[in-house]
Amino acid sequence: MNTQKSLLADRYTPLIRNCWYVLGFAAEADRQLRSRNIAGIAVVYFRRLDGSIAVLRDRCPHRSFPLSKGILDGDRLTCLYHGLTFDPDGLCVAKPTNPDNAAEIRAGSFPVVERQGVIWIWPGDPKLADEAEIPELPWLDQPGWDHVSGYLNFPSNYIALHENLMDLSHFAFLHAGNIGTPEYADAPFRVRVEDGRINLRRVLEDSPLPSLLSVPTDLGDKRVTRETDTWWMSPALNLTHSNVHDSTPDAGKPGLYSFKVIHFITPETQHTTHNFWAVARDFRLDDPAIPAHTHASFKVAFEEDREALDWIEQRQRREGLEFGEVHLSSDKGGILMRRRMKKLALAEAERPPSSS
Ligand code: FES
Ligand SMILES: [Fe+2]
Repeated sequence: MNTQKSLLADRYTPLIRNCWYVLGFAAEADRQLRSRNIAGIAVVYFRRLDGSIAVLRDRCPHRSFPLSKGILDGDRLTCLYHGLTFDPDGLCVAKPTNPDNAAEIRAGSFPVVERQGVIWIWPGDPKLADEAEIPELPWLDQPGWDHVSGYLNFPSNYIALHENLMDLSHFAFLHAGNIGTPEYADAPFRVRVEDGRINLRRVLEDSPLPSLLSVPTDLGDKRVTRETDTWWMSPALNLTHSNVHDSTPDAGKPGLYSFKVIHFITPETQHTTHNFWAVARDFRLDDPAIPAHTHASFKVAFEEDREALDWIEQRQRREGLEFGEVHLSSDKGGILMRRRMKKLALAEAERPPSSS
């Protein structure tokens, strides 16, 4: 293995758990027991009677029966195998087959925060969980903005999805029918690191818009300035500010159209990834046709990424990584991201577990 490669995270790098990840959209949480795998750990979640969300390990500490197959009564969850009952913090409060057992048994619970329509979970060391690290995403709940959202499951490691999102040069080829225009492939770009976040910025002047942007903005084939500012925010989040500047707007039309493309990236297992996504916009908020068009057109592009990463994953799994992939200048943002993810993963692996 060469030095360069060993510095970069890849599909075999241990999953980073000390991070706030999105568990799901808040709208899907209710009184049903729902199970989801987060960073290799099965969790079960539900709303308590007071409306707050509880997240427990979906594995009974007795014989590993999934607690999501159990029964929720009030805020207590009973395992259907031998009846151990847990409170919403994971403490066992009833042992019907062994009532004299005084030992403390815990199912394990996870820090969870509901904010701006999404549920954040910290699957790592709970002592390190700091709510202040959860990013603010005002475009998801503030007046003046509307958004569409969706979910895709990627049959690939989360590093590959992060790398895909840090490489906008693929727009012109993989997404030639929607996001991409030919100018995109060799357009100048700038990469910088700020507070541990990685920024990839590309500005195309006097550029036609792809249909995915020209239809909702109603700019047709007018040539405008297209600005794309993508941020790797954390192992859990990629955020793109996509602005369309029209320097000669028609009467009554804006000179700036803003989109926010938000990818919540949550490793499901070492080889699969949850991708919760949202696209927000600040214009034509009363036009009922825009959300359906935006949802459908962005979904097509994201599905193209999923198919591409599926093919790549299959190659890499079958033949291994000892192949010597070449790097192009457009990979700079992705390389910086992989270096950062590798550092985070190594630091986590070397950190002694905090005592409880
Ligand atoms: S496996 Fe849950 S009580 Fe035995
Ligand atoms: Fe893509």
